[in-house]
Amino acid sequence: MADLAVEGRAVGERQEGFEPQVVGFLCNWCSYAGADLAGTSRLAYPTNLRVIRVMCSGRVDPEIMTEPFLHGADAVMVLGCHPGDCHYLSGNYQAEQRVRTVWMVLDHLGIDRGRLYLDWVSAAEGARFADMVSEFVERVKALGPAGGGPASKEGLSRDEFTFRAEVSRRVVAGERFRWLVGRNKALSEEGNVYGEKVSPEKAGALMQSVIADECVRAAIEVLAGEAPVSVRDIASRLGISAQIVLEQAAYLKRRGIIELYDVLGRSPRYVLAGARA
Ligand code: FES
Repeated sequence: MADLAVEGRAVGERQEGFEPQVVGFLCNWCSYAGADLAGTSRLAYPTNLRVIRVMCSGRVDPEIMTEPFLHGADAVMVLGCHPGDCHYLSGNYQAEQRVRTVWMVLDHLGIDRGRLYLDWVSAAEGARFADMVSEFVERVKALGPAGGGPASKEGLSRDEFTFRAEVSRRVVAGERFRWLVGRNKALSEEGNVYGEKVSPEKAGALMQSVIADECVRAAIEVLAGEAPVSVRDIASRLGISAQIVLEQAAYLKRRGIIELYDVLGRSPRYVLAGARA
C-alpha cells in the first residue's frame, strides 16, 4: 500500500495557534518519577502532554500505541527506564522493538513516524524530562495536526488519517504481526525451526512483506465494514492493483471474515461476514 503515502509537504514551520494533543505512556519506576520530579522542582514544560502511568514501557502494546490517533491525539510518547535499568529487566528493549515495528507500519501508511516517540528518562532526570517534552511538542507543532489536510506534514484529511490510523491499529493487533514482532529477534539470533539464522536484512524484508499484506487486508476489512465495496473501488482507494486486492479479499473470504455481496459490472463487492442481515 506504499502508494497510499501522500507526498510529504514541506511544513517545517510552527503552525500558529495549533496546540498538539500528546498522549504519553510513562513507566512507573523511572520516567513517571522523572516527570514527578520535574513537577516538584517546578520546572515548566508544555501542558499538551496527557500522562498515562504504566508499570513498564514493555507493557505498552503496539495496539495501545496507535489507538490514541483514533481519538484525536496528534502524537504519542513512550518513555521508559534507560537501557539496563528496567525493573523487569527487558521491558524497555521490548518497547523499543515494538516501536520500531509500529514505525514501519506508519511509514507504509503514509503517517509520519515522528508522531510516535520513544525515549528513556530516569527518576533523577526531571530537567531532562521537561526539556524532552518541550522539544517534542515543538516538533509535533511543526508536523501539524494529525489529519490537518494541507496544514499537516502528511497532507491527509481527518477522515483519511483516521482510516489509516484504524488500519494501523488492526495491523499491529493482528496475530501474524504479533508473532513476527515476537520472533523477529529470535529469528536472527537463534534461527528458525531448522536452526537457520535469518539475516537482519531478510528479517526486515519479511516484516515489510507481512506489513504490506496485512495493511491491504485491514483496509479491506475497514471498508467492507462500512458498506458493500467493490474490488475496483478498494484498489483505487488504496492506489494498488485490483489483482492484489482480489488475492487478499480471497484470503479474507476463506477465513470467513468477509463475504461476497454481489457483482457490480465485473467487479465483486464484499461486506463483512454476517453483515447482510
Ligand atoms: S520498568 Fe521502566 S521500562 Fe521497564
